[in-house]
Amino acid sequence: MDIQKLLSQMTLQEKLGQLTQVNAVFFKPDNTADITGPVSLLGIEESDALYCGSTLNFIGAKDMKKIQDIAMAAQPHGIPLLFMQDVIHGYRTIYPIPLGMGCTFDEELVEECARMAGKEAAVSGVHVTFSPMLDLVRDARWGRVMESTGEDPFLNGRLGAAFVRGYQGDKLQGKYDIAACVKHFAAYGAPEAGRDYNAVELSEHTLRESYLPGYRACIDAGVEMIMPSFNTVGGVPSTCNRLLLDKILRREWAFDGIVISDYNAYREMVKHGVAEDDKHAAELAIGAGCDIEMMSATAYLHGEELLAEGRLTMEQIDRAVLRVLELKDRLGLFENPYRVANEQEEAELHLCPAHRALARRAAEEASVLLKNENVLPFSKNAKKIAVIGPFAKEKGIKGFWACAGRDEDCVTVLAGVRALLPDAEVASVKGCSWEIGETEVPELDEAIELASEADAVVLCLGEYQEHSGEGNSRATLTLSPAQMTLARAVLKHNKNTAAVIFGGRPLVLTDLAEIAPAMLYVWQPGTEGGNAVARLLFGDANPSGKLSMSFPYAEGQCPIYYSRMNTGRPVEDPKVVSKRPYRSRYLDAPVLPLYPFGHGLSYNTYTYDNFTVSDDKITPDTPLEIAVTVKNEGQYQGKETVQLYIHDKFASVARPLLELKDFVKLELAPGESAAVIFTLTEEDLRFHTLDGTFASERGEFEVFVGPNSDQLMGATVYLEK
Ligand code: GLC
Repeated sequence: MDIQKLLSQMTLQEKLGQLTQVNAVFFKPDNTADITGPVSLLGIEESDALYCGSTLNFIGAKDMKKIQDIAMAAQPHGIPLLFMQDVIHGYRTIYPIPLGMGCTFDEELVEECARMAGKEAAVSGVHVTFSPMLDLVRDARWGRVMESTGEDPFLNGRLGAAFVRGYQGDKLQGKYDIAACVKHFAAYGAPEAGRDYNAVELSEHTLRESYLPGYRACIDAGVEMIMPSFNTVGGVPSTCNRLLLDKILRREWAFDGIVISDYNAYREMVKHGVAEDDKHAAELAIGAGCDIEMMSATAYLHGEELLAEGRLTMEQIDRAVLRVLELKDRLGLFENPYRVANEQEEAELHLCPAHRALARRAAEEASVLLKNENVLPFSKNAKKIAVIGPFAKEKGIKGFWACAGRDEDCVTVLAGVRALLPDAEVASVKGCSWEIGETEVPELDEAIELASEADAVVLCLGEYQEHSGEGNSRATLTLSPAQMTLARAVLKHNKNTAAVIFGGRPLVLTDLAEIAPAMLYVWQPGTEGGNAVARLLFGDANPSGKLSMSFPYAEGQCPIYYSRMNTGRPVEDPKVVSKRPYRSRYLDAPVLPLYPFGHGLSYNTYTYDNFTVSDDKITPDTPLEIAVTVKNEGQYQGKETVQLYIHDKFASVARPLLELKDFVKLELAPGESAAVIFTLTEEDLRFHTLDGTFASERGEFEVFVGPNSDQLMGATVYLEK
């Protein structure tokens, strides 16, 4: 398609239409949906909607084809729609939430899962996914931590790039490749008080040092689109933030892809008090560098006036329209507007055995064994198994952003255990609800009776999928009083009990950890959750997940993360409550979390020996090699993620006590050893210095390796330059 020629033939209304995205309901006769206010509030008619260049929130190939036909018939030049969707961790076959995928520390697995999701989405008519979400998250009160791969910039960058590769393949050349959209630019994960959409106040240093690298990794991986965040950064909404969208994104990073706003975010700048009215919002957003306006129509309605008043230029409009048309062209939509939408392939691919198997493997590798005092794995000879708790038979375990996923497709823990052990007597009691703050335990007696008679007890607790995700921040993160009452009673009557905990965020499990001998955190595991949990509990799978986000000892510690600064008055031991006055301490909690970043047990014990560094100095020309031998001392095949950290002990700005710089995931047979060699270069030691350059500074560094951010062996080296 000759895009320039098409652009030259388009009217202003057509051009502004291409920059507008409305919900799929607009293309249906019964467009009465009221999502962010009645659709009529957008101020456009159905006929206007037909000029729009893209749509979202439709499901299925049949729907997509119908909408595409309607739209193209109405478009003066027959320009096809872009179909976009939140394919966050699966389309119909749902794998674990991204915060759980972060615990796999497995780029290949993430890429494979993204590719599977993209394929299922593509045959359902999806062209673009609003994924991956690369917001760095350090505050478990924020409900959308579930969408991120965690608290570390390096891990997020590696896994974010893997998501992009999985969706986009080699520049959308593949039949089922779909475009990816990294979000939410920027620092949406750092709202004050952990409350969604709230203001973000970060220094530019911290922004660049910690919060931007994840998005940048996706840009470097070739992501087609980026979405600014709802929040303000330094008082300016990201949607019109020229530091973010122009200086950093367009000029420094040379990103020339599409910038699409978040849902109604243009108009919300009026609520932020930065735009005087909708017309001003359009001027600010487009002026800063936004291209597509999602679910509002300020550019469509006011663009002509803004041009006439010289507040926008046709060059700005044309540049944005070109980006949209070029993506449609690269997706082949002008030749084939349906692309690979195909009802038959939908039926064949969605939830097919291979996809379910992949989702189950992901759920197994995302699960984290937090504690295990000789309880797990349960014996497969157990005759009477009790599955107790609000999540024993819960099918709502797919997570908040599960796109076309359905609860009814999910395998419950009870079903998974019964499928694995068909000859055992497996009974279940719910005990209580999963409601936040619940105090009633209506089936306490039944739960006690069942637990008392069982050979093994699976105690299924946690947070429901709708209690994390967008708009679902929490001020308390503990299990409800009812769940704790149930747990105490069950554990009193049967010590051979393992707690399986569901959640979309790190919960505060301090009280449970005091009484439960075994705790397996499974996040929202997705469609195959119950099968994965059963295989993990009974030893057909061996836990290998490592926490992608710290688990607080108490909510009051939030935000909490491993790469903290030292302060000028550090406590003597961050693991205990300090008794020394005038220290950076809590009177009622330790400084460290209950479970740290990188924590995760196995049914094996892994020993780390022969730690060596190739030299006691590192220079720009001579990288450092850090070696360690890891041995599987256990009796199970297992995976172990070995982590490499540094600490820059002296620099022009304070540096974190620890920074993850590499990781490798080993698979070891019983008794097998592997030698791991990390290479650390001078470039790995660079950071945003006091004078704003990105550089390393000579001086003393500590380098560490270990199984998590707490148990480390290290050496001191000197950077010479
Ligand atoms: C939502 C979310 C964003 C999502 C978009 C479309 O409000 O903030 O992550 O992609 O709207 O559903």
